[in-house]
Amino acid sequence: MSGVSVTKGAEDAAPAANDLVVLSNVNKHFGALHVLQDIDLTIARGEVVVVIGPSGSGKSTLCRTINRLETIDSGAISIDGKPLPEEGRELARLRADVGMVFQSFNLFAHKTVLENVMLGQLKVRKTDKKAAEDKARSLLDRVGVATQADKYPAQLSGGQQQRVAIARALAMDPKVILFDEPTSALDPEMINEVLDVMQQLARDGMTMVVVTHEMGFARSAANRVVFMADGKIVEEATPDQFFSNPRSDRAKDFLSKILHH
Ligand SMILES: Nc1ncnc2c1ncn2[C@@H]1O[C@H](COP(=O)(O)OP(=O)(O)OP(=O)(O)O)[C@@H](O)[C@H]1O
Ligand SMILES: [Mg+2]
Repeated sequence: MSGVSVTKGAEDAAPAANDLVVLSNVNKHFGALHVLQDIDLTIARGEVVVVIGPSGSGKSTLCRTINRLETIDSGAISIDGKPLPEEGRELARLRADVGMVFQSFNLFAHKTVLENVMLGQLKVRKTDKKAAEDKARSLLDRVGVATQADKYPAQLSGGQQQRVAIARALAMDPKVILFDEPTSALDPEMINEVLDVMQQLARDGMTMVVVTHEMGFARSAANRVVFMADGKIVEEATPDQFFSNPRSDRAKDFLSKILHH
């Protein structure tokens, strides 16, 4: 799966059928800060892309633009051949198609684990209650927390909560799931149980964009590593190429800092 990148000004060209997420020449500012600079990125169906880079390089902002939690100033983003909708029902549907798992699990505290995984199905997908519950239970089983279904999020460990958050994203049958540092808030002993679930999802063919500092995960699960610095994509390569032979000084410097301590 090679990362086909879209050439600037090629918006009129027919997208490859395999392209799922396409960012073309995307720019975003926060006031004077040019946080995303001419971003061109195409993610193929079934591809797992790991995004790494120093703090403040724009990784979270990149993720947030893909499900329109942030607007962009110029350029274009499409999912499955369609431009991102701006508002209303179409936007709700987009959010369902583009799952997101955050560092802080963001579960509804006053709802049970089961209800958390049913809610989007009932409200957005209009699934009937029995089907939504069956699906929620089977997804909770898939991520290894079936026995926790009737508890509230605060009664679960961080690793369990994050697996519930993954089940909740999966319940919408998303086309792609964005993970923004999903293990950064976890105690070390819980990191692997979450990475294992993500690893399995990757094997099952889920399209995933993963911001992470877990280089072991990047090496074993990613089809491609995207390295960002100062709002730009500085380098894109297979994990093997990237880790053994980074081309840019920025990437070399970054890797020397994270790999040697
Ligand atoms: N809502 C906002 N308003 C103003 N500036 C913002 C906002 N969100 C992010 N920024 C700034 O944009 C830059 C990129 O932030 P972003 O969160 O995307 O970086 P990041 O690569 O995810 O960093 P980290 O590794 O620390 O999570 C940072 O300088 C940040 O301070
Ligand atoms: Mg971030």
